[in-house]
This record gives sequence, structure tokens and C-alpha cells, in this order.
Amino acid sequence: MSTRLKRTIGVSTFLVVVVAGFLLRPGTEADEDPVWVETAQAVVLPFKQRLMAALKEGLAQGPEAAIDACRIEAPRIADALASPTVRVGRTSHRLRNPANAPKPWMLPILQELRDTAPGERPYRIVRMGDDWIGYAEPIYMQPLCLTCHGSDLSASLRDRLDAAYPQDQATGFAVGDFRGIFWVELETRGAASHAAAPTAPKVPKAPL
Ligand code: HEC
Repeated sequence: MSTRLKRTIGVSTFLVVVVAGFLLRPGTEADEDPVWVETAQAVVLPFKQRLMAALKEGLAQGPEAAIDACRIEAPRIADALASPTVRVGRTSHRLRNPANAPKPWMLPILQELRDTAPGERPYRIVRMGDDWIGYAEPIYMQPLCLTCHGSDLSASLRDRLDAAYPQDQATGFAVGDFRGIFWVELETRGAASHAAAPTAPKVPKAPL
């Protein structure tokens, strides 16, 4: 084989390895530093609690009203808990709202948690480059969720969902099924500011 050919093969192989490595590595597993886990959980907890409160308040007015509570309140609560160094949200492998689509680092975690028994992996944490950490926590179906994500939706609810979410894939779940994840992204450089950031609500809760 000529030297030139060998060099070409060498360079091509190198490029393939580098590009494949880059594409296949949406995030590397972070050291499970308890500070990051605690910081992320301090954001997820109020997010969950406020979502559940909004859902229950909505359901008290009927499931159709509760859809609006989910649609309007979920992003509002996420925004209220966010800061320049903190982002929070929900995503799923079967989405109702395409705006909740997973970011690349979340895809392998969704896959993994879907194949893991409930309780086995209470959270996952990954490092994204030098500056950000991603945290994810599985969400499982509860009886309360069946009204809007189960197999037996009322016709009026189905109509309302079809109108708001024409690409809805988030029905047909059973209690205990993996439904998606809560996620948090934390910027690690501004570490000192995290302690104060997530806990206090920045805006008062809007009426439903
Ligand atoms: C009243 C109907 C209703 C009930 C009950 C309900 N949801 Fe939803 N859910 C929605 C709607 C509407 C959305 C889309 C919200 C949006 O536009 O961001 C949604 C979105 C989600 C998402 C975000 C990912 C996606 O598919 O867009 C998750 C995760 C989720 N729901 C889980 C749950 C769980 C878990 C429960 C039970 C604790 C539950 N939901 C109960 C209506 C409901």
C-alpha cells in the first residue's frame, strides 16, 4: 500500500472516530456530587408540588378546565423557577405537546429509564461540557393521571385534547407506567448563586 493511501486511510479513520465519538456522546455521566443532586432536587420539588396543585385545582373545575391549567400553568411554573443558571421542565418519549420535546442529552436517559423498574433509578445526572449539568427524574403514572393520559378518555376530553394537541401521543398509559422525566439544567460555573436561586418563587401564583 502506498504511503499516501495509508495516510488517507489513517486520516479518514481518525475523522470517523472523532465524529462518531462526538455524535454518540450527548452527555457524559457526571460525578454524582451531592451538591448538584441537592440543588437540582431543590428545583424539581417545588416544580412538582406546584404542578400538582395547579392540576388538582383545575380538576376541581372539571377535566376540560384542567387541560388549560396544564397547558398554561406548566410553562409558567417552569419559568418562575428558572434563572440564568437554572432551567427546568418535563419531557417524554410519548409527547402530548411537541414544545416539550427532549433535548439530545435527555434521549438516552428516557430510553434507559423506560427500561428500568420503578424505584431502581430515582434520578440520573450527566455533565454537558464544562459548564452545565443535567439532572433527570422519572415520572410514573398515578390513578389521577388516567383521566387525560389513560386509555378510556371521555369524548369531550378527547375533542378538547385533539383541538389543542393534534399530534398527541400521550394516551394509552396505565398506572405505574413510565410517563417521562422531570429535568433540570444547572450551570456549574455560577455555583455560588445556586444556593439562593431556586427555592423562593419569583412571581406570585397566577389564578387559574
Ligand atoms: C386534566 C388533564 C391532565 C391530567 C389529569 C394530567 N395531565 Fe399530563 N398533560 C396534560 C396536558 C394538557 C399536557 C400538555 C401540557 C403542555 O402543553 O405543556 C400534559 C403534559 C404532560 C407531560 C409533559 C410531556 C408531554 O407529553 O407534553 C407529562 C410528563 C405529564 N403530562 C404527566 C402527567 C402525570 C404524571 C399526570 C398525573 C399526575 C398527569 N400528567 C395528569 C393533561 C393532563
